[in-house]
Formats: sequence, structure tokens, C-alpha cells
Amino acid sequence: MSEAPDDLVVPRSIAVIMDGNGRWARKKGWQRVRGHEHGITAVRETVTECARLGVQALTLYAFSEENWSRPETEIAALMSLLKRFLVEERPTLMQNGVKLVHAGRRERLSPEVLALLAESVALTAGNDRMTLCLAISYGARTELVDAMRAIARKVAAGQLEPEAIDEATISAHLYRPELPDPDLLIRTAGELRVSNFLLWQISYAEIWVTDLCWPEFRKQHLWQALQAYGKRERRFGRVPS
Ligand code: IPE
Ligand code: IPE
Ligand code: MG
Repeated sequence: MSEAPDDLVVPRSIAVIMDGNGRWARKKGWQRVRGHEHGITAVRETVTECARLGVQALTLYAFSEENWSRPETEIAALMSLLKRFLVEERPTLMQNGVKLVHAGRRERLSPEVLALLAESVALTAGNDRMTLCLAISYGARTELVDAMRAIARKVAAGQLEPEAIDEATISAHLYRPELPDPDLLIRTAGELRVSNFLLWQISYAEIWVTDLCWPEFRKQHLWQALQAYGKRERRFGRVPS
């Protein structure tokens, strides 16, 4: 299949847990880091194809809060790959009208990573075809903690009544309040778990899991996910129509 099937249903917002880089590399007898390197090709293809299809927001889980517990050598390799990505993918982002944003805590990221991230964010700020949100040093529970703190500060300062807090208030205090909640959550490498990703935002996302590892993921697999998504009945708690 080299052309997109014509029965694709394109969601407004997609989130991806890009998993299985290490396993993919180990199966080939390579170091885990080579799996991360090859994962970049899958990122480029997914970003380009989502932008072409008209997806408004794509959120990629690149490095979790929990990933800070990995061996230092792997963290260093991931951070240097991230720096390379932030520079080398700039032409792809510009050619495809992609605006880059970040979700996550900034504290543990190095000044170099933060600087390159800021440069790419500024460079792409005027692009409006698709927003690419990179979740780096991201944890959904820390995101909720940070949101609760921000809301509590407003209550303590007398700017907000506790009774006025509703779902929209919580959403408005997350890292990227401007992004629509994911309609579709894709996970590669077969694990049936959420791994602390976008817990609030995926309340009603459709979940699609493939056994393929992330470095193997190509646009054909994205199309498969979108075809499966199109067959889902999203009931939102109602009775079937
Ligand atoms: C996903 O691949 C990339 C990150 C979590 C940074 P993994 O590194 O988790 O690969 P596996 O799951 O160990 O195969
Ligand atoms: C989730 O993958 C995090 C990212 C894809 C960045 P992990 O490999 O860290 O998740 P677990 O450990 O299998 O839950
Ligand atoms: Mg993993």
C-alpha cells in the first residue's frame, strides 16, 4: 500500500507512545541506543504524514519523568539524540507547516536542550498546519500536580473561588491547554498500559496498540491505526445510536 486508502478517518488530535526502540535494537544484536537513532525516521515519517492528512495536533511521548531512572549512559544518549533532532528536523518542520511546542517539566533538562528547544519553538511559531507537541521530561501525574499548585495559588490569592473550579479550569492549567484532547492514542511495542501519559486528556481517546516496535513504524501503520479508529463507535457514555 503506497497511497493512503480513501476510507481514512483523520482525528483532530493524536498522541503516540513511541515504545520498543531498545527491544528492536537488541533483537538485532545492537546496542539499545541504535534503536533510539532509528526511531527518528519513524518520527519524521509520522509527523510529515499527520501534517499532510490534516491532523491538528500530534503529541509524541519522547522522554518520561520515569525515564530519568534509566542508566546515565542511556539518558545521555537520548539527550544528545534529542539535541540533534531539534536542529536537524527544522527543515522538515518548516516544509510541513509544523509548529513545535513542549510539554513537561523544564527543571531537569540541560541548558543546551532548553536553548535548542526554545530556538525550534520560536522558529516554527508562525506555522499553522499542525502542532507537534514533544512530551519530554513529562509525567501526567506531575502535570496534574503542577496544575493543582497553580490553581491553589489563585485560590490563596483570592483570584478564584473553590466552587468555580470545574473541568475546564483543570484543563486550562495543564502544560498545553491550547491543544485538543487526543481522539486517538497509539502505542507501539505491544504493552497494554498508559505509562503516565496524558492521564487527564485521554479520558475518551480511542486506544490502538501494535506489536511493531517504534523504529519499524511507517505511514502504512499510521493508516492502519486511522482505519481502525474510523470503525470505532465513540459513545461517550451514551447508548449506541
Ligand atoms: C521508547 O523505547 C523510547 C523511550 C522510552 C525513550 P524504549 O527505550 O522504552 O524501548 P524498550 O521498550 O525498552 O524496547
Ligand atoms: C513510555 O515508554 C515512555 C516513552 C515512550 C517516552 P516506557 O518504555 O518508558 O514505558 P514502560 O516502562 O514500559 O511503562
Ligand atoms: Mg519501553
